[in-house]
Amino acid sequence: MRKVLELKLDSMSHFLSKTDFETIRKEVEEAKRTLLNGSGPGQEFRGWLDLPVTFDEDELNRILTCAKKIRSMANVLVVIGIGGSYLGTRAAVEALRPYFSSRKRMEIIYAGQTLSSQYLSELLFYLKNKEFAINVISKSGTTIEPAIAFRALNNLLKAKYGDEASKRVFVTSDRKKGALKKLANQQQYESFVIPDDIGGRFSVLTPVGLLPIAAMGISIKRLLAGAKAARNHYLNASYWKNDAMLYAAARNLLYRKEIPCEMLVNYEPKLNQLAEWWKQLFAESEGKDGKGLFVASASFSTDLHSLGQYIQEGRRLLFETVIQINEPQKDVLIEKEPSDFDGLNYLAGKTLDVVNKRAFEGTLMAHISGQVPNLILNLDKLDPYSLGYLFYFFELAVGISGYILGINPFNQPGVEQYKKNMFRLLDKPGIQ
Ligand code: PA5
Repeated sequence: MRKVLELKLDSMSHFLSKTDFETIRKEVEEAKRTLLNGSGPGQEFRGWLDLPVTFDEDELNRILTCAKKIRSMANVLVVIGIGGSYLGTRAAVEALRPYFSSRKRMEIIYAGQTLSSQYLSELLFYLKNKEFAINVISKSGTTIEPAIAFRALNNLLKAKYGDEASKRVFVTSDRKKGALKKLANQQQYESFVIPDDIGGRFSVLTPVGLLPIAAMGISIKRLLAGAKAARNHYLNASYWKNDAMLYAAARNLLYRKEIPCEMLVNYEPKLNQLAEWWKQLFAESEGKDGKGLFVASASFSTDLHSLGQYIQEGRRLLFETVIQINEPQKDVLIEKEPSDFDGLNYLAGKTLDVVNKRAFEGTLMAHISGQVPNLILNLDKLDPYSLGYLFYFFELAVGISGYILGINPFNQPGVEQYKKNMFRLLDKPGIQ
């Protein structure tokens, strides 16, 4: 039976030896122990570790009921949130829904993830004639981007639906604290809780992600089942059988060999938003104390026509982690053309996925010969189960990797600096 997810290290043999992996083994095992027994910094934010097995069944059913309600009352769901309060949802929705769809399909629109006045004003105009509902997501309830978007969108909702507007607002926030929670109580909005022990970037499998993902018709039970299977495997498997540990090991080994950047690559653009989620997970977890790999992403073969030249021949500063999907859900047969006007008949009878796979193999050979280390992550297919598995894999890997690096992977003190400056420039009361 094929594995749901498999890290292939063969392509690394030019850059990292088995001895390298053995050299770092004790540190990796120690980092995993520290993570699991809660003896490391930030240990109070490890709720995500057990989430796939501790998720309350009643809460899951309430999410499913609400998702159904949203689908029956609206054809657009506006998800308001930023960073960890929206990236996981977007990753799952774009990975699992078809690229193109009929007009009848429920639409999801993101707001509060930007301060673009153009975006918000165009959105307000677009929604005027739509049946819509809002899921506002903010743990702190004070983040300025979603707060401004919610104020404007809620006013539109009230103008459109009057007394019924409050039935169209779904709040996901802290259990007790924050302006949003207070408002939710006052207005009796249907609300969901972000557990205290789970930070934003680890929250995709909490109501933060589960409600909007379910509202888009994606099976959250399968998503959680995949994460549970990943948990069972990676918490128990020993070093050489544990891809989360080996991935954390490889990243740190390459970092120590003075390769400062990791690029997450896909050959399926449905994974572009997963890369955005992954970038936040790794950058915000590891980029501190003057340390950490800089993370970037690319979608091939598209970006081979833009970044490809640099990757092949520019400064040697990165390694690639390539997510390769074994089996596409849909494929296209390349047909024979009697006149062969384009000279492509040598491909007739092959599928487009075969061409994509050969592009991957050709690129892999080229980049390795150009001294770019490549880690390959084979994902068997792109479905809710596999995606849940992949989410958990990366979350666990970053926890282990962060402890190997010697930082607290669960805080983000550096994010506050720009906010302070911005609030001072905006004359926010109480900010010096
Ligand atoms: O991972 C994080 O903690 C951040 O990205 C937050 O999710 C983001 O800043 C939004 O914060 P909040 O949910 O409090 O509005």
